[in-house]
Amino acid sequence: MMKDIKFLMGADCKKLILPICLSVLDSLLNSVMYGVMLLTLAALYDGSFSAAMVMRALLWLLGIFVLRCIFQGVAFTDAQCLGANASGKLRLRLGNHIRKLHLGYFNNHSIGRLNGVLTTDVTDYETIITHCLCDVVKVASFGILSVGFLFYIHPAFGLVTLVVCGLAVPVLFRSGKASGDSATRLKQAKSNVVTRLIEYISGIKTFRLYNLTGARFVKLDRDLKGLRDASTKSELSVLPLSLGFYIITAMLIPISIIFGGYLQMRGEITAAQFVLVMFVTVSLVDLLGVLSSLYPQIRSITKATENVREVLDETPFGYDPAVTKLDNFDIAYEDVHFSYNGKQEVLGGVSFTAKAGTTTALIGPSGSGKTTITSLLSRFWDVTGGRITIGGRDIREISPDLLASNMAIVFQDVYLLNDTIYNNIRIGKPDATEEEVYAAAKAACAHAFILAQPDGYQTMLSEGGGGLSGGEKQRISIARALLKDAPIVLLDETTSNLDADNEQEINRAFRKLMKHKTVLVIAHKLGTIRRADQILVLKDGKIYEEGNHETLLAQGGWYADVCREQEAAKTWQIS
Ligand SMILES: Nc1ncnc2c1ncn2[C@@H]1O[C@H](COP(=O)(O)OP(=O)(O)OP(=O)(O)O)[C@@H](O)[C@H]1O
Ligand SMILES: [Mg+2]
Repeated sequence: MMKDIKFLMGADCKKLILPICLSVLDSLLNSVMYGVMLLTLAALYDGSFSAAMVMRALLWLLGIFVLRCIFQGVAFTDAQCLGANASGKLRLRLGNHIRKLHLGYFNNHSIGRLNGVLTTDVTDYETIITHCLCDVVKVASFGILSVGFLFYIHPAFGLVTLVVCGLAVPVLFRSGKASGDSATRLKQAKSNVVTRLIEYISGIKTFRLYNLTGARFVKLDRDLKGLRDASTKSELSVLPLSLGFYIITAMLIPISIIFGGYLQMRGEITAAQFVLVMFVTVSLVDLLGVLSSLYPQIRSITKATENVREVLDETPFGYDPAVTKLDNFDIAYEDVHFSYNGKQEVLGGVSFTAKAGTTTALIGPSGSGKTTITSLLSRFWDVTGGRITIGGRDIREISPDLLASNMAIVFQDVYLLNDTIYNNIRIGKPDATEEEVYAAAKAACAHAFILAQPDGYQTMLSEGGGGLSGGEKQRISIARALLKDAPIVLLDETTSNLDADNEQEINRAFRKLMKHKTVLVIAHKLGTIRRADQILVLKDGKIYEEGNHETLLAQGGWYADVCREQEAAKTWQIS
């Protein structure tokens, strides 16, 4: 347990010394209390009992009681603060680590698992520090002192206690193992349910549309039943063993009575000693009962540590810490190969250069790899072959944070945070003034519709940006990108059916965003493509045609065909 706590707490582990020492002192005082009782009882039996002695014993007991209250209070408060602090730090450490992982890590499965690690596992670990650690120390130290005391009264008591405990310990270990195993199954079942619930809630529209809600969403139903069964099994598998442990340890009481009675009759112990042995044995049995419920919890920290370690062991993107600044924004893709999760190659040798301050348009059929190309530049993933450079420097040397600070990204699936519109825009530049935020919103043609919202810029958005139209969300994300004013801009133009006014406004906003920047744009509209300095036509993960609007038209390939079709579509009439 201490090894796991040390791994999770790091240097802060030393701070646990105080509550541990106080718990040992508390146990010592508990034992002293029994000593006082022994002296009093002995006096009662040998006739030296007096009122003054009772007073003295009472004062001793009062003193011990006050000191124990202080020790327990300080140890408990300290452990509470340390536990909350340690779990907070661990969650931040995990969060900081998770944010540096490649996007492949965040599939549906790992969301449920990550949720389990960040909530249940970290909470298990916090409980160990706040509740279990001091109790374990108390049980252990009082156990040792009690056995020592019993040996002192008569070796037979000590031996009997050791034998009974020796019989009970294997049962305790088995209950710990059963609890550990069922905890693993229970966590897996919980993780499945969380994953399924996330899928269910985020896809509720589809589920309703296809009437897959309620009992017809068989998978959620199955996972919920799985969780119920795992919970029941978890309780049932540990209960007989905990009970068995308790029954064996409780046998200490009748055994001690029989032994004590026998020894007293033989005159080997006094009546006072016999009574006190009974007190100590009853307390010891009680404490061992506490241990039977503590031990499975202690075992759970091992599993929690394994889960936390698994996340922390996931290798984040590497980079060269010496690279702290970028000053040249020429972008070059050199024979870039890429496959998601080692499967089929999605990019098969893409090479092109985009000079700083120019616009490169990526076009091509669906699934040709356009989004993949832009995702690689922002290091959502790392290339599997070749390299990408910015200003001649391989982007694998650049930290994801530095890259992100030099990049503004507007994608189709805009994600807005559960915050005010104002703060959602200000994410682009956290220290922006109010004027700068308004200016960015105006430039993104978003100012007017924001003012029309119930609370203007202070209107709260729900998670994901619910309550706004697709075009409105996109203009907020453009405002955010404009405010950031980063030298590299990655754009995925929207293809959704915006009305003509909305589309014109968004186009205007896009043009402002792209001015004087190095732009990679996944273009769907002829307007953008025509103005681009370079157009790359992608097909099956390779550059199929390359040039500008005029040269590609002259080539008469795929691009020329698409342009002809788009031009022809303009002349269509509904009659
Ligand atoms: N996260 C992912 N995991 C596995 N495969 C993926 C992933 N994202 C995309 N792919 C696959 O990679 C290929 C290229 O996808 P990409 O999204 O780059 O295409 P695209 O050109 O942007 O298409 P569209 O125009 O439809 O947006 C597709 O075959 C797609 O199935
Ligand atoms: Mg795409």
